[in-house]
Amino acid sequence: MNETTSIRPFTITEKLDWLENRYWKFGQDDTLADHLHDLYEVDDEGQMTAQPRRDPLTGETKGLMVLGGSGNGKTALLMRTLRADPVLTEFKVDKPGNTLFITVPPEATIKKLAEIILQQTGYAKVDTKLRAADAWEIARHRFGMVGINTVVIDECHHILRSGPGRDVLAAIQSLKHIMQSERGVALVIAGVPSLRDAILSEPSGETYRRFREFHLSRISPGSTAARRFGQNFLKSAEVLGVQVCEEDAVAERILFAEHGQVGRSVALGKEILRDAVTRKREVLSLEFSERVFQKSNPNFGMTPFHPGAWVAVKKELEAIGWGA
Ligand SMILES: Nc1ncnc2c1ncn2[C@@H]1O[C@H](COP(=O)(O)OP(=O)(O)OP(=O)(O)O)[C@@H](O)[C@H]1O
Ligand SMILES: [Mg+2]
Repeated sequence: MNETTSIRPFTITEKLDWLENRYWKFGQDDTLADHLHDLYEVDDEGQMTAQPRRDPLTGETKGLMVLGGSGNGKTALLMRTLRADPVLTEFKVDKPGNTLFITVPPEATIKKLAEIILQQTGYAKVDTKLRAADAWEIARHRFGMVGINTVVIDECHHILRSGPGRDVLAAIQSLKHIMQSERGVALVIAGVPSLRDAILSEPSGETYRRFREFHLSRISPGSTAARRFGQNFLKSAEVLGVQVCEEDAVAERILFAEHGQVGRSVALGKEILRDAVTRKREVLSLEFSERVFQKSNPNFGMTPFHPGAWVAVKKELEAIGWGA
């Protein structure tokens, strides 16, 4: 699907709205789609279906861990996949769908998570005296009743936090049990890299071995992701009617300035474009890009948006240990 072929934004309001909602593809979506493909049955055309693959001997499904540092784009990627995927559709109480998306609140226990699932699947009579194991049993049953066969748990590391009154092993086991639901439920969990370590703390390793792993990293210079970041930036500029001089290497400078962290790099790229649109500038300049950067980073003398050829500026910045 090409997102930029939709109606071109014309007014400033339309342009800003268009820009804000733009999802920039760096290749992580393809990798995620590839991982998901392995979790489900395929049809005779080789197309992924919504039916999770089950081990015929155990009836169990598999899981996927999406791991990455904060701001590396896990939530944005998962939500975008749910919006765009022809097979996985988000379940809401008032809207049928086959995929339940849950965001775990910071202090949630495993019991709280089960209660959230019950509420989100329309089970109104949640009894707070219910034991965690019973709440989970009802939750797994609900999946089958309402037609959910994929569960996505974002910020999953929160339920695996240790501390008083928290049972990490039981929490790990509840994840395993989701993949042992009667009707077959594929599980996608997302969180910071410590999520993997927490699951590995189970001595038997029985939960960990049911998961594949997908790591979202920063965008490194010269990588395919970096090239695609540049293409997204240029394409967005073009749709917004802002001219960018390719020799300025603005996208490379943005990635350098934000150390390739996805969230921050996208935010700076969009802010630079927003600045040009709102001030009705038809041509993007390094000078104005630098001004945008300095508004949130006032303490740098020389910045990556310093005038001059990028290769030379970069060399100089590296020599002074810029941003290290
Ligand atoms: N591909 C993308 N295109 C456009 N914006 C993106 C993209 N990826 C991430 N973002 C934006 O970057 C910011 C950080 O991304 P996101 O919240 O998904 O990261 P995260 O890995 O879930 O972080 P956390 O662990 O803190 O929840 C968000 O504002 C999001 O909208
Ligand atoms: Mg997130």
